[in-house]
Amino acid sequence: MSIAPLTGKGLESVRLADARINLWEGSVRSSKTVSSLMRWLKFVREAPPGNLLMTGKTERTLKRNVIDVLTEWLGPSRCKLIAGSGELWLLGRRVYVAGANDERAQEKIRGLTLVGAYADEVSTLPESYWSMLLTRLSVDGAKLFGTTNPDSPAHWLLKDYLQRSSTWLDHSGQLLRSEGEDRLDLARFSFRLADNPYLSTAYIDALSSEFTGLWRKRFIEGLWVAAEGAIYDMWDEQRHVVDIIPPISQWLCAAIDYGTSNPLHAVLLGLGTDSRLYVVSEWRHDSRQAHRQMTDAEYTERVREWLQEVPVPASRRPDGTWLRGVQPRYMIVDPSAASFRVQLHREGMNPVAGNNAVLDGIRTVSSLMAAGRLKVSRDCPALLAEIPGYAWDDKAARKGEDKPIKMADHGLDALRYAVMTTRSLWHSSIPLAIAA
Ligand SMILES: Nc1ncnc2c1ncn2[C@@H]1O[C@H](COP(=O)(O)OP(=O)(O)OP(=O)(O)O)[C@@H](O)[C@H]1O
Ligand SMILES: [Mg+2]
Repeated sequence: MSIAPLTGKGLESVRLADARINLWEGSVRSSKTVSSLMRWLKFVREAPPGNLLMTGKTERTLKRNVIDVLTEWLGPSRCKLIAGSGELWLLGRRVYVAGANDERAQEKIRGLTLVGAYADEVSTLPESYWSMLLTRLSVDGAKLFGTTNPDSPAHWLLKDYLQRSSTWLDHSGQLLRSEGEDRLDLARFSFRLADNPYLSTAYIDALSSEFTGLWRKRFIEGLWVAAEGAIYDMWDEQRHVVDIIPPISQWLCAAIDYGTSNPLHAVLLGLGTDSRLYVVSEWRHDSRQAHRQMTDAEYTERVREWLQEVPVPASRRPDGTWLRGVQPRYMIVDPSAASFRVQLHREGMNPVAGNNAVLDGIRTVSSLMAAGRLKVSRDCPALLAEIPGYAWDDKAARKGEDKPIKMADHGLDALRYAVMTTRSLWHSSIPLAIAA
């Protein structure tokens, strides 16, 4: 990537970023990383001797989001990550590299005195880690530079830091200076998509169509808003429920949310020749309703029968034939259902544990729905009944957590596992502008 000189808000932020804490926040792809890295490189060139650190949620995301970008700009001789050592050589200086989730890295930082730090995705760092990081920046003139996307309005980063800035280049580009006892030596730069002049209109349109609801407000508009109301608020029966399933080019998976006293819910996911994902069929057993629990062996048998049969009637098919029997590429199971997986294994059904990253899963499902790339057959009544009622937990939101209310969500969990775990199979057919 060749980098053009900064202009507008990017340039202004680099000029203003001379506080102890300097934070670029706002919309995705709004040039926060590029601007903050420009400032970081200037700092690294001029910094007094002492330790430098680059940190992020994990070492892997830090490398992907930031270090790879620097290597591309500077070339491997001026930016070289020494694998396994937790060290980066940047413009001839040693920089420690640490992921916040790595206990050993935390230990190492605990004992360090730092003159400078760069932090990626600050809102995703544990608050305790962030506080520790700030105490490490004890040298006179020590500075921190960081970026973040918006999160909940109750998030510690907003309440305890960003809202106490003494310099704020706000969303509209106004420069606000505040003084007072509650103010920190902190400069805040709020970015919106329009602040990145290098995005094409087509790309901005693609991004905008992918984000709806909560994530539209946070990631497109750059606002700190709470997770409230319906999770899949882009869901529209008219648009998303289908009576006719187009030809399926690949049967991606059967995915199962497991329960014994709770329902077991299985969904069958296919990739259509029209480059859309289809939930074609579901199988569900609700032991409370049926007044009968099934053993793992019975469940296995019934799931096998369901897949052999796949009741997709002729009326749902463009060619008017019944569908009978599919062999999905993967059998995906609730990661916590270890005993059931063992049973499936015994029966030669080769299960894999589902990806249960809840928020990433919800975000990906939302994006697909918003883009009209995920549809559900009318033959999945139990799943269809759950989708509109799936809601954010208000109580958790007040504490700054994004969490769905634990309620009728078995089909929804199965759907999340299905979509997330098969991502590598469908993502080249269905490019999303931003990977979860
Ligand atoms: N000065 C520039 N010259 C060329 N391209 C640029 C410049 N600034 C930004 N871009 C382009 O815009 C993209 C997004 O910028 P950047 O990665 O800094 O955004 P971000 O706000 O950090 O986004 P995210 O929240 O998704 O991490 C870059 O990958 C790059 O392609
Ligand atoms: Mg970034």
